[in-house]
Amino acid sequence: MIGIGGSYLGTRAVCEALSTGQFPANEPEKNSVRLVYAGHHLDQDYLHNLLAWLENKSFSIIVISKSGTTTEPAIAFRFLRELLERKLGRKLAAKRIIGITDASKGALKTLADAEGYKSYVIPDDVGGRYSVLTPVGLLPIAVAGHNIRELLQGAAYMADLLKQNDQIKDNPAAHYAVLRNILYSKGKTTEILAAYNPSLTYFIEWWKQLFGESEGKDGKGIFPAGVTFTTDLHSMGQYIQDGHKNFFETVITVRKGRNELIIPEDANDLEGLNYLAGKSVGFVNEMASRGTMLAHVDGDVPNLEIIIPEISPYHIGSLIYFFEMACAISGYILDVNPFDQPGVEDYKRNMFALLGKPGFEDETKAIKKRL
Ligand code: PA5
Repeated sequence: MIGIGGSYLGTRAVCEALSTGQFPANEPEKNSVRLVYAGHHLDQDYLHNLLAWLENKSFSIIVISKSGTTTEPAIAFRFLRELLERKLGRKLAAKRIIGITDASKGALKTLADAEGYKSYVIPDDVGGRYSVLTPVGLLPIAVAGHNIRELLQGAAYMADLLKQNDQIKDNPAAHYAVLRNILYSKGKTTEILAAYNPSLTYFIEWWKQLFGESEGKDGKGIFPAGVTFTTDLHSMGQYIQDGHKNFFETVITVRKGRNELIIPEDANDLEGLNYLAGKSVGFVNEMASRGTMLAHVDGDVPNLEIIIPEISPYHIGSLIYFFEMACAISGYILDVNPFDQPGVEDYKRNMFALLGKPGFEDETKAIKKRL
C-alpha cells in the first residue's frame, strides 16, 4: 500500500491494532496477503530494501492519494510500478494496480485513466485524516484480512449514539471535547494519549494527525502527544510525573484481552514473583494502569479515561468515529476550522523551490539566497 498522512495512518492504525493475536505482529496466516507500506517517508534505504524484498514476490499495488500529487507516494509508486511492469509487462501489471484518488482531478487520476487501473474514489468532502472509513482505509484493511463490515457496524453504532444524545453529559464525544477544552483553558496545552497495548501505538499516531492537523491553526490548539505504556513509563514516566505541568493525559483502557496468560508458580521463586502466581499478565497490566493514573493525578496531571470492551473491528470502528466526531466538536469549541490544513502547504513550497520544480522558479531563486 502506498500513501502518506491521511492516506496511510488510518489503515496502519487499524491493521496494527487488529494484528494483536498474531506474532510477530502483521505476520499473515498461511496463504493470506501481507500488507506492506511505502510512500510514507522519503528514506531511500527503506525503499531500496522494499524493492529488493519484492523482487522475488508476487505483489499488487494499492496507491492512495487524494490530491494525486503528493511527492512521497508519487516517488514510491514510480519505483514500484516499474518493478511490477518489469516482472509482468505493462498490461498485466495494470491489472495488479488499484488507485484510490479524487473522482476527477490529479495526476494519479490521469495515470489511472490512461493505464486502465481499477480505481476507487475518495469523497470530495472527506479530508485525508477523516478518510479511514472510506475506500482509503476499507480496501487495504480488507485486503489485509480484517472484517471491514464489523468495523463499519461499530462506527455506525457510535454515529447513532452520538446523534441521539444532544446533552453533553450523555454524549461521550461532546463530553471529551468539552473536557479537553476546559483543561486547555487552564493552561494544559498538550494532551498525551496513552494506551497500555502496543498494538494501539499506530492508533495513537492516527489520533495525533487527526487532532494535530484539525486543531493546530490560528496560533491555537492542544498539542497531541502519545505514549505506549508500560514501555514508555520507563522512558517518559519521569517527565510525566515530575516535569513541567502543561499537559493532561487521556488513557485508552481495553477491558478484555484476547488471550489470558496466567503467571506460573516457581519452586525457587528467586525473582520473588510468586506473589503474582495465578494472576494473569493482563491483571498486572491493569494494576499498572490504575497505579499510574493515581500517581499522575497526584502529580497534577489530570487524567481522562476512554474505555473500550476489547480490541476488535467493531470497537475500533466505534473508537474511530468517536474521535472523529470529538475532534470536529473540539475544533469548533476552539473556534478553528477542524476540516482544513492550510499550514501543511508551507514546507512543500520550500521543498519544491529547493528541488527546482517547474512553476517555482522565483521561489527557487529566493530560497537559495537563504541557504
Ligand atoms: O490529512 C491530510 O490532508 C494530509 O495528511 C494528507 O492525507 C497527506 O498529505 C496525503 O495527501 P494525499 O492523499 O493528497 O496524497
